[in-house]
Amino acid sequence: MLFLLVLLSSALGAWVREPPVPEVRTRSQPVDGWVTVRLNHFDASNTETFQMRYYYNNEFATTNNIVIFVGGEWAISPGWVTGGLAHELAQKTGAGLFYTEHRYYGQTRPTNGTSVAELRFLTVDQALADLAQFIQYVQSDYFDSGRFRGGKVSLVGCSYAGSMATWMRLAYPHLVTAAFSDSGPLHAQEDFPEYLEVIAEALRVQGSHHCVESIAESVQKVHQELKTEAGAARISRLFNTCSPINGSDPLDVATFFWFGVTETFAYLVQYATPGDIATACAVLTDVNVSDPSERLANWITQQSWTQPCIQASYAAQVAAHTNTSYDAQQAVMRLWTYQTCVEYGWYQTTNGEEHPFLSTVPLSYFHRMCRDFFGDNFDENFLRQGIKRTNLLFGGLTFMPDGVVSRRRARPLVAGGHDPWSPMGPNATHATPLAPVYVASQVSHCRAIRSTKDSETEQLEVIKQSVLRNMQEFLAGKPPTTPDSSAAILTPVLFTLIVTFVSLVL
Ligand SMILES: *[C@@H]1O[C@H](CO)[C@@H](O)[C@H](O)[C@H]1NC(C)=O
Repeated sequence: MLFLLVLLSSALGAWVREPPVPEVRTRSQPVDGWVTVRLNHFDASNTETFQMRYYYNNEFATTNNIVIFVGGEWAISPGWVTGGLAHELAQKTGAGLFYTEHRYYGQTRPTNGTSVAELRFLTVDQALADLAQFIQYVQSDYFDSGRFRGGKVSLVGCSYAGSMATWMRLAYPHLVTAAFSDSGPLHAQEDFPEYLEVIAEALRVQGSHHCVESIAESVQKVHQELKTEAGAARISRLFNTCSPINGSDPLDVATFFWFGVTETFAYLVQYATPGDIATACAVLTDVNVSDPSERLANWITQQSWTQPCIQASYAAQVAAHTNTSYDAQQAVMRLWTYQTCVEYGWYQTTNGEEHPFLSTVPLSYFHRMCRDFFGDNFDENFLRQGIKRTNLLFGGLTFMPDGVVSRRRARPLVAGGHDPWSPMGPNATHATPLAPVYVASQVSHCRAIRSTKDSETEQLEVIKQSVLRNMQEFLAGKPPTTPDSSAAILTPVLFTLIVTFVSLVL
């Protein structure tokens, strides 16, 4: 029983956390509210409903405009209606500001538990329909005396919630006028080997080539040591695993590398602020520690998301992730993993070439996870059909809806930035005159949804100002302009005669 409680909090951790909340820039107190939405939007004969949570801040609401900060795979908190770019947009457009909670996450619980039968209403198409119903409600006479009747809606989201913002504009153009997606992946894909390659490139660029080589040396040594019983015992001790690693069980070895090593690096890069990676590399290349395994362990065990210990037992991970209580320690991970098994894939395997992690985390590991968490019919075929369905419903990267502004981090190889998600999102070649794409170098995950003042580079601040301007232009029914003359200019599709629309590419 105890081992169930001592679970690694980092599991796929980088994916399932609310973006770090911005500095509070308001004195008004946001209120939370609940709206009744349908359990199954796509079965007209099913009238079951549940309560969806949201936050509301009306401090700027001088018009009937509506700005929604879209909640993703996390519990919402008031922070994102009291600061950040959506807050700034609300101020500029005199809008009511909202933050919606995604079904099944946080307190928005459509079912009693998270059994597989209960999870069948956990899909993005249902979540988008919740948002649609939410918008309909806010625009109605029943919300705050009808002050938002006929109001225009802008959405802001990052990561998966950024994908949702884009897809809302695609699926409900009559409800959503403008959307900003900060690094939202749009293309579902089973294997996502680019992820760890981008992580490695970020370590190289922000740290050093030597840093990546040192990690490679460490991983090699750890991998070697795990092959003997004495070695596995030593690695278990060095890395502070919750129970001894069984080095002869490939599932346990993959669990150790995935939950303990690659995810720890992913977390570092995904949420890095300037200096973080260099600091990590100082430990990872410490000349005073001659043993490569020890060097890696020294850094890994210092990280907050490997506390109190690394759970390298696959059986323990399965036990934790099959608890069907919403309050289970790994409930959120269970929910997000379900979505990946049913809709997206996006598995961060070591199948790429350019990274220091050997072949420690194969795709088959995730196939196994889907089956062991949710049942035997969640097999590879099921997964591939689900991914195909998602790309069919939303078009992947083949179609960019008008009125959407996207920001992605540069592929490091191109511009020295570090965006693990960038290969799945739109880049400059996907931009259209009515759907600009901004590329920011040297900036990590979800940084463009913070306020303009809170920008680590001048380039990012300029991009945020352009995003705000484009959103206002969309609201006013005008085409977007991207005026920064110092930027390279891209005009991918120019059917327009009046204005030259450009996208900012650095
Ligand atoms: C599942 O999680 C809940 C909430 O944390 C806990 O009370 C319960 O004991 C767990 N069930 C099992 C079987 O571990």
